[in-house]
Amino acid sequence: MAFNIGSGLEGKSVIVTGGSGGIGREVCLAFAAAGSRVAVVDVDEASVKALVAEMEGGPHLAIAHDLRPVAGHAALVEKVTNAFGKLDVLVQTAAVLRRRPSVFDVSEADWDIQHDVNLKASFFLCQAAARVMRDQGSGGRIINFTSQGWMSGGFGGSVAYAATKGGIVSMTRGLARSLAKERITVNAVSPGAADTAMMRSGMDEAALAATVAQIPLGYMAAPSELAGSVLFLASDHAGYITGATINVSGGWLMY
Ligand SMILES: NC(=O)c1ccc[n+]([C@@H]2O[C@H](COP(=O)([O-])OP(=O)(O)OC[C@H]3O[C@@H](n4cnc5c(N)ncnc54)[C@H](O)[C@@H]3O)[C@@H](O)[C@H]2O)c1
Repeated sequence: MAFNIGSGLEGKSVIVTGGSGGIGREVCLAFAAAGSRVAVVDVDEASVKALVAEMEGGPHLAIAHDLRPVAGHAALVEKVTNAFGKLDVLVQTAAVLRRRPSVFDVSEADWDIQHDVNLKASFFLCQAAARVMRDQGSGGRIINFTSQGWMSGGFGGSVAYAATKGGIVSMTRGLARSLAKERITVNAVSPGAADTAMMRSGMDEAALAATVAQIPLGYMAAPSELAGSVLFLASDHAGYITGATINVSGGWLMY
């Protein structure tokens, strides 16, 4: 098999949550360029529609959807299978970061929104997608986004966020083991610092410079630099990889 990162992605049906976010948008554009059909899921209707209008190939789907009410997940997946005829890949980039100055500034509302979006909604959307993949009988790929905070534990006011991302790694491993018999692989991608609105939130230029100084490759990733690992995990080249967390951090933390 000639090495081609698009291998096997032509005609795949893909859901990308957080699809109009910094990294999600690049993931959507990359799947579209590889010949997949993409359902772009995010909260803001105008931004999902604008992205779909930019994407190659298709037709794709723009879905404005708040992932917090998990009762809506089955209908969301059904909307995609009705349009594309099947579901092959779920990529979950949707997340919320509430960076606070210290642990003493973290409120219950901060805890709840980060856990509701980052962990609870991610688990239940995995469940809804895996149910459909199981019933189709043709396997599937699930790719979750964690953060290197899963390993460092974060710091100060980002500890609650890091806890959700630790949960993503545990959940990814457990789902990988549980869904292997259905030929559904479940893996995670772990960015260090990628230049998006989330990364810049609550950081001034000095804090950003201090972050970059810790990265051996010497710069924050462009959001597009996260797309390759996602497409690889969804491609024919990664069929034997499950339960893995791919570190895409420019060497910031090495694991
Ligand atoms: N940017 C980084 O440096 C970095 C570092 C580590 C991990 N990550 C992870 O990578 C992923 C993408 O991050 P990003 O930097 O692109 O962030 P981003 O803020 O640009 O994008 C996140 C997207 O999630 C969407 N979202 C939030 N709540 C939602 C909800 N309830 N329903 C539906 N969509 C919702 C937002 O609207 C947004 O478009 C996240 O999981 C993040 O935790 C990013």
